[in-house]
Amino acid sequence: MTQTEWGKPALLGGQPIVEAPLPIVRPLLPPLAAIQERLDAAMQSGQLTNGGRHVQALEAQLAAYFAVAHVVAVNNATIGLLLLLRALAADGEVILPSFTYAASAHAVVWAGLRPVFVDILPDTYTLDPAAVARAITPRTAAIMGVHIYGHPCEIDDLQEVADHHGIPLIFDAAHAMGSRYRQQRVGGFGLAEVFSFHATKIFPVGEGSVIATSDTQLAQKLRLLRVFGSPPGEENTLLPGLNGKMQEFNALIGLENLKNIDRYVTQRRALVDQMRAEIAHLPGLHFQTQRPHVYSNYQNLSLLVDAGAFGLSRDALFVALRADNVHTRRYFHPPVHRHDAYAGSEHAHLPVTDRVADTVLCLPIYSQMQAQEAHALCLTLRRLHAFAPAVRERLRAEGAAGSAGGC
Ligand SMILES: Cc1ncc(COP(=O)(O)O)c(C=O)c1O
Repeated sequence: MTQTEWGKPALLGGQPIVEAPLPIVRPLLPPLAAIQERLDAAMQSGQLTNGGRHVQALEAQLAAYFAVAHVVAVNNATIGLLLLLRALAADGEVILPSFTYAASAHAVVWAGLRPVFVDILPDTYTLDPAAVARAITPRTAAIMGVHIYGHPCEIDDLQEVADHHGIPLIFDAAHAMGSRYRQQRVGGFGLAEVFSFHATKIFPVGEGSVIATSDTQLAQKLRLLRVFGSPPGEENTLLPGLNGKMQEFNALIGLENLKNIDRYVTQRRALVDQMRAEIAHLPGLHFQTQRPHVYSNYQNLSLLVDAGAFGLSRDALFVALRADNVHTRRYFHPPVHRHDAYAGSEHAHLPVTDRVADTVLCLPIYSQMQAQEAHALCLTLRRLHAFAPAVRERLRAEGAAGSAGGC
């Protein structure tokens, strides 16, 4: 294709190839009719929360799905992580990546523990097991891996480090519903895994989360902690718990999602295959490496942008894509150790984290995305590459996109 056939990028006065704005996520929810009857019955009975039958059904079905003994449903993954950490340790340090969403670290702090940020692997952006081993001290209370964008961590290596030191390994699996590691579903690894069912996730219920574990004592403690620390039918509290309960409405949506999750993962993987093939020839755009033993759900589709090779920096591409109706996200930039909230936090030099955070861009991806939408997105990227010098010049003139002019 020539530049004339494409027309100019919108930033230079052309028409967007993507006709209607492409959001970064689009939750795929069941039709109301699918849950209407059960929702009506729940509302008539007055049982909207407090471990109702639909929450219990979701827990049972997910325990079978993950092949674990226990699933504890809670109201969001931040609370799930907080309760889990609280159940594991009264004080100490938690080793985790800084390349994650702030909630991973916030949960550590709210649990009364101290985050210790370590670096990630340069190809998968997940916790570097060697860096974890170096960060262990007598104060280490837990290791928390994050399955970034749905790509599972190097679980075996992390487990080996954890076992060697006798430290619990847990996973922030907020992104990883439906992902697999060595053919086994994420959910059954480490001591426990915490999923997010937030509206932006592949398994959206509004607000919601589950903790999966096969440790019976831990599950019992978590069940107590999510209901103020009060055993069923008692006014007395055994622990200073929180209100971490999932509502029936959210559980009903979850029960419907569960019928389709594996299909949604397959659809996303097909879209990513298509996009990889369509932009494979473009220089300077690098996909997250998919290790051969993992099966990612592609909760997020990320690119690292090499400004020199592509012709536009990540920030310039972000601005230019926006003009072309493609919404992207610099996710996770800045990395958590550079947030004001973590000024003075403990971390070594994190060069890989800094480099990935400075160049990463997440593209729109959702389970119901059409092949034509993915194609239009790829054409937009190809056109921006073809017009990169002019786009750079325009951004420089406008003083936009920070370093856009300098690439
Ligand atoms: C890696 C990670 N951990 C935790 C969370 C928090 O999840 P929730 O919104 O369910 O509290 C998120 C949310 O996006 C996340 O991306």
